[in-house]
Amino acid sequence: MRAAITGLGTAVPAQLLTNADLEARVETSDSWIVERTGIRERHIAKPDETTASLAVEAGTAAIKHAGIPPDAVDLLIVATATPEQPIPHTGAFVGEGLGLRCGSFDLQAGCAGFVYMLVVGSSMLTAGHLQHVLLIGSETLSRVIDPADRATCILFGDAAAAIVLSRSDDDGPGVLGWDLGCDGSAASLLEVRAGGSRRPATPETIAAGDQYLKMQGQEVFRRAVRAVVESAFATLEHAGVGAADVSWFVPHQANIRIIESAASRIGVAPQRTIVNIDRYGNTSAASIPLALAEAEEDGRLKPGDLVLMSGFGAGMTWGSALVEWGSL
Ligand code: UT7
Repeated sequence: MRAAITGLGTAVPAQLLTNADLEARVETSDSWIVERTGIRERHIAKPDETTASLAVEAGTAAIKHAGIPPDAVDLLIVATATPEQPIPHTGAFVGEGLGLRCGSFDLQAGCAGFVYMLVVGSSMLTAGHLQHVLLIGSETLSRVIDPADRATCILFGDAAAAIVLSRSDDDGPGVLGWDLGCDGSAASLLEVRAGGSRRPATPETIAAGDQYLKMQGQEVFRRAVRAVVESAFATLEHAGVGAADVSWFVPHQANIRIIESAASRIGVAPQRTIVNIDRYGNTSAASIPLALAEAEEDGRLKPGDLVLMSGFGAGMTWGSALVEWGSL
């Protein structure tokens, strides 16, 4: 029994934030951003676009692509670090928008959220009686970014991307192996300090700017490369596959230098690595499924391909999964 990807859908806000726009706002330059990150532009949600509304759009597209009626979805998981509101979970709004009454929950594992969700969804499918699971990575990072902080405002963008995961009763396409991890000793490297149980939002926390994402970029960078490489190798070992057998590497899109360094250490050629960070920036839990959807759409992903996905993020979390691609 396997859990195969049978549908993909995306939702990207129309509003663009280019490097030239950022040059006008903070002390930075297009050449610095491109050289250090690989990013040229990102999409930013308008006030009426939210994590849930983008998720509904991406989920609707994925259900249609899978060719199933919405009521065939047996479970909905939304991976997000930027929930619609603290209570209830974002999946409640998304399920309502999609007309679903199946179980739903949110999964928070930072930018590794998509891989975590893929592992959970796949395990629930292969455990028993579910047929289709809808997984949506949706983020409006722009809502937690300090527009005046040049260390973070250049990096992040908004988007959602969804997949339908379906149970197949044979050894066809599907999830072949995975690895998940989290080193909580590094929690302070990437955080939003206020708005939770430890530090509820008050006028003082707002005055201190603690509603915004704070990041120690260099240390995150260093750990990210190591985590992605180790996790990728653990996943390949779990699946009994060598790096030379990987058809495509689809990493979390956080920084082109992290992507290139990790790909070369794993042993995947640049032309076998899917990169779209130049056009979206870091869209956290949406970045891997967004890249998958583009590569499927333009015909790069073919049935039988072995696709290695790796993510890392706040926590610090990391996760990798190896998937045999099917006919979509
Ligand atoms: O999904 C996980 C999320 N996060 C990540 O993956 C982020 C990982 N980290 C990174 O991508 C990189 O660390 C950054 C892109 C954030 C920063 O690049 P860096 O090469 O590590 O730069 P740095 O922080 O070492 O800064 C180098 C210099 C500093 O100036 P000084 O002290 O050398 O004079 C910074 O103040 O660049 C300066 N700087 C900038 N200059 C122009 C920092 N941000 C900017 C900027 N424009 N936007």
